[in-house]
This record gives sequence, C-alpha cells and structure tokens, in this order.
Amino acid sequence: MSNPLFASQSKSASADTTSPKENDADYGYTVLIIDDEVEVHKVTDLTLKRFRFDGKRIRFLHAYSAREALQIFTEHTDIALALVDVVMETDHAGLDLVHKVRNELGNHLVRLVLRTGQPGQAPEHEVIERYDINDYKEKTELTSQKLKTLMYSGLRSYRDIQTIDMHRKGLRQVIESTSKMLKPNSMSEFATAVLKEIMNLLQIDSSAVYCTTFSEQGAHGERRILAATGSMADVIAEDDSPGLPAPVEQLFDKALDERRSLYSEEGYVFYTETESGYQSLLYIDTNGKLTNAQQELLDIYCFNVALTYASLLKGEEILETQRELVYLLGDAVEMRSKETGAHVKRVSLVSYRLAQLYGLAEEECLVIKRASPLHDFGKVAIPDRILHKPGKLDKEEWETMKTHASVGHDILRKSTKPILKVASMICMTHHEKWNGNGYPLGLQGEEIPIAGRISALADVFDALGSKRCYKEPWGKENVREELLKERGEHFEPKLVDLIIDHFDEFWEIRNRYPD
Ligand code: C2E
Ligand code: SIN
Ligand code: SIN
Ligand code: FE
Ligand code: FE
Repeated sequence: MSNPLFASQSKSASADTTSPKENDADYGYTVLIIDDEVEVHKVTDLTLKRFRFDGKRIRFLHAYSAREALQIFTEHTDIALALVDVVMETDHAGLDLVHKVRNELGNHLVRLVLRTGQPGQAPEHEVIERYDINDYKEKTELTSQKLKTLMYSGLRSYRDIQTIDMHRKGLRQVIESTSKMLKPNSMSEFATAVLKEIMNLLQIDSSAVYCTTFSEQGAHGERRILAATGSMADVIAEDDSPGLPAPVEQLFDKALDERRSLYSEEGYVFYTETESGYQSLLYIDTNGKLTNAQQELLDIYCFNVALTYASLLKGEEILETQRELVYLLGDAVEMRSKETGAHVKRVSLVSYRLAQLYGLAEEECLVIKRASPLHDFGKVAIPDRILHKPGKLDKEEWETMKTHASVGHDILRKSTKPILKVASMICMTHHEKWNGNGYPLGLQGEEIPIAGRISALADVFDALGSKRCYKEPWGKENVREELLKERGEHFEPKLVDLIIDHFDEFWEIRNRYPD
C-alpha cells in the first residue's frame, strides 16, 4: 500500500503547497492530509482550493505514509485537523498513528478524522469506541460538499478546544502565582498574570500598565510598575526599563493630582486609593470605549491588587487575599456568562446557610461560603457561541459545556490555599446527583463531598429562579415543587428538607440580592 515514490519525499512534501509570493498572514489553520494515494491528495486540494475559515486560507500539509505523518506531527504542534487514511503501510497504520499522536505525543487538541476506503478493515463502531478520533468517514461518502462541512465542523471544534485550553493555562498561572505570593518581589508576577487574564476574559485586546505609589511621598512619589502587558510589557524590566511613554506619565500625573480616574483620547486611567494611602494607577491603551461592566471589573482589579500589595509591604500575612481573589475571579466569570451580578453572591449565601442548617462547624460553613462562588469557574473556558446560545444546546455543544466542571477543578487544583482547594472540589462535584446520574464522575450519595451536595442544591435553586439566555425565570411555587420532585434524585433528601422548611428565608436572599 505504501508508495515508494512519495515516501522518499518526506520533508519537502510538507512545504510544496506554499508558493513564495504568498504571505503568512493570509493563512489561518493548518490541516494535515494523510493518505498513501496521490490521487486523494490531488482531489482534496482541488476541492478545498477556495475554502476559507474565519476569513483565512488553510495551510495544507501532506503526508504519504503514517511514518511521515508522525514526523510532521512531531515538528508541527499547531495542526488543527488531520484527515487520516486507515490502510497505508499496514492494514491499521492510520489507527496506530492516532494512538501515537494522542498517547505518545500527548496531542489532544488536534481533531482527527478517519477516512477509509475499506470500511471492512476498520468498522466504525469499533474504531470510535477504541480510538480517540473525532469523526469517521468512508471515502465514497465524502462528496465535495460533505468534505467542506467536515472542515467547518472540525475547525470550529478545534477553535473551541483551543480557547478552553488557553484559558486553562492562563488561569492556572494566576492561581500558581497566588501561592508564591508571600514575597513582595513575586507581586509583579501575580499582578501581571491577573491583569493578562482579566484583559483576556473581557476580550480587551490592547496594552496595559499598572503601577502603585504611596501618597505620603506627595503626588509625585516614586512609582513602582507592577504589571504590564502587550506592547508595554518591557517597561517592567528591573534594569533597563525604557520607562513609561511620556503621554502615559502625563495622564498618571493628572490622575494623581485630581485623585480620580480619567478617560482621554489616549486611553483609560483607573485610579484607586486604599485606606492606608496606597494609590494605584492602571493605564489601558484602548481605541474604543470600555463598557461600564468592563470598567467596573478593572476597578476591582486595581483595588484588590493595591490592597494585596499594601499588606505585603507591611509584612502582614495576606489573610484577605484569597477571599478577594475568589470574588474577583467569580465576578469575571459572571461577566462572561452574562449571569447577572448577584448569582454568585446568592449561591454563596444559600450554600452558607444550608451548611449551617445541616450542622457543619462554623469554620467549614465559612469555607463553603467563600469557595462556592467559584462553582462555575470552569465556564470562563467555554466559548461564547455555546455559553451565550439563546436556545437548547446540541449534543456536541453539551459535551463541551459539561467540561466546565473538570476544567474548573483542573485550574484550581494546584493551589495549596484551603479556600481554593475546596473551590476546586466544588467545581468538580456541583453537577453530581444523589442518585448517581450526574456528571462528570457519576458519584452517588455520600460519595459526593458535602460541599458539592450543598452547592448543587444552591446552584439549581438559584438558576431555576433566574433568567438565563436559554430560559425564563421560574416562580417561587414552581421552584419549590421542582426541588421536592428531585428529593432523593438530584439532591440529598436531608438538604431538600432543610431548604423547604426554611423556604421563605431562602427566597428572601433572592429579594435581597436581585438580578
Ligand atoms: P446554569 O444556567 O447556571 O444552571 C445550573 C443548573 O440549574 C443546571 O445544570 C440545571 O441542573 C439547573 N437548571 C437551570 N435551568 C433549568 C431548567 O430550566 N430546568 C431544569 N430542570 N433545571 C434547570 P446543568 O443542566 O448541568 O447545566 C449546566 C450549565 O449548562 C447551565 O448552568 C448553563 O450554563 C448550561 N446549559 C444547560 N442547558 C443549556 C441550554 O439548553 N442552552 C444553553 N445555552 N446553556 C445551557
Ligand atoms: C479530545 O481531545 O478529543 C477531547 C476533547 C473533546 O473532544 O471535547
Ligand atoms: C442538552 O441540550 O442536550 C442538555 C441541556 C440540559 O440537559 O439542560
Ligand atoms: Fe455548573
Ligand atoms: Fe451556577
């Protein structure tokens, strides 16, 4: 089955579709075509010649054997989609390749589609079950239209998974920097990581710089630059920092003189001042205007970082930091998922009260209160088109949505802080059900940690009574009935009894913190 003519061409073969006059910027995603028949490459090229995704052309790489494909996978870690022939050097060369890519190279991002000319060699149900592939097509069913459809869905799915992966990495960096945050010089690492991630979440694509100063030194005391991103990233260098651009210096002077935030042609300056006299300034170089919600979150950022820094300099144990960070991140998630302001707050209060009524020690109740706002933390990684979809999710979208539980867990898991540890566990278990039919683990009864059982009930209690992009709010009686119906099914019976016995009190929390 192998083709000696092409097998010998290995590396030059991968570059042969790019002629020198074409610009790199015209290209978006990379797709690898793996087939030992030259004809298949030609037909695929011809069919997809004008194909565009996100307005960009596809960069095609070609492999004529599984061995060559593996080599290309090793050299190119950014392949979005690969069309994989099954029968090449051996009857199952394509399947072995899939196994190696997933397990040896550890590449779980690339979307793999099997194309086979001999379905008998690799029956669909067996292959899908045993190998981590994303689709299976018989060559005869791949008309030109079907091939294009396959490209769209494969690339879209890759884009979504890549987004999830990027946020996972960014947020883990934030969490890791908080655990190192016992020395003032790690402050800058922390502040930069948080700033980058906030900009990312708010989808503000511009440069920013953040610095603090102490008001006792007068309005023009020494400024310490703590965080910088984008084109201003190098102002943070200790030794040969180029210093702030003059227009930014001037805006900072003005904000400090007037002790207020400013908006000018140049960009935004956020000004905050802590009680102990620490002032902080955040400059964002943006062309368009920021929304009120974005401005608010950036304000919170400044205030939190300034507080943390001030207590660090005073040598205080940073007791408040974890709590502040939890609310800060919780707010960012809310803003992304457009669940109106108070959901996180209410879930926190409902969980706290349930924990008390359940009879947990006050200290445990407090940890649950502080950790539960992060139950949906993993949603920051879910792509907008799924998170904000007005209607019901399709099967693939639902599979992606369900990952929010383990994604949240993964990000927070590394932390050694008690609150974040419990938050990580709540992320993982807040969609488990008492009867064992929940996700992602399918735990049952008391296998589910109590914090997970409590936040599951608090979350649904609040979600049912709230408006979502996919549903209208339910009234008080309907919510009560639903919880009773799920007693011993979704929820632990004892917890349902507690919330029903105190239903007015719990519903009052909703009135106190309305959407
Ligand atoms: P969420 O909106 O915060 O809802 C949390 C949980 O409350 C849901 O978990 C579910 O157990 C319960 N819940 C919310 N609304 C209803 C409802 O109208 N009827 C019933 N019986 N239960 C409800 P679940 O199902 O695991 O969903 C997790 C998340 O997935 C939801 O969080 C939401 O962000 C998203 N989601 C679920 N279904 C859809 C949908 O049809 N469309 C969209 N766009 N998103 C959905
Ligand atoms: C995978 O790497 O295939 C798992 C991610 C997904 O398909 O949602
Ligand atoms: C789906 O749309 O398939 C799942 C939505 C849900 O279970 O609420
Ligand atoms: Fe959730
Ligand atoms: Fe929720």
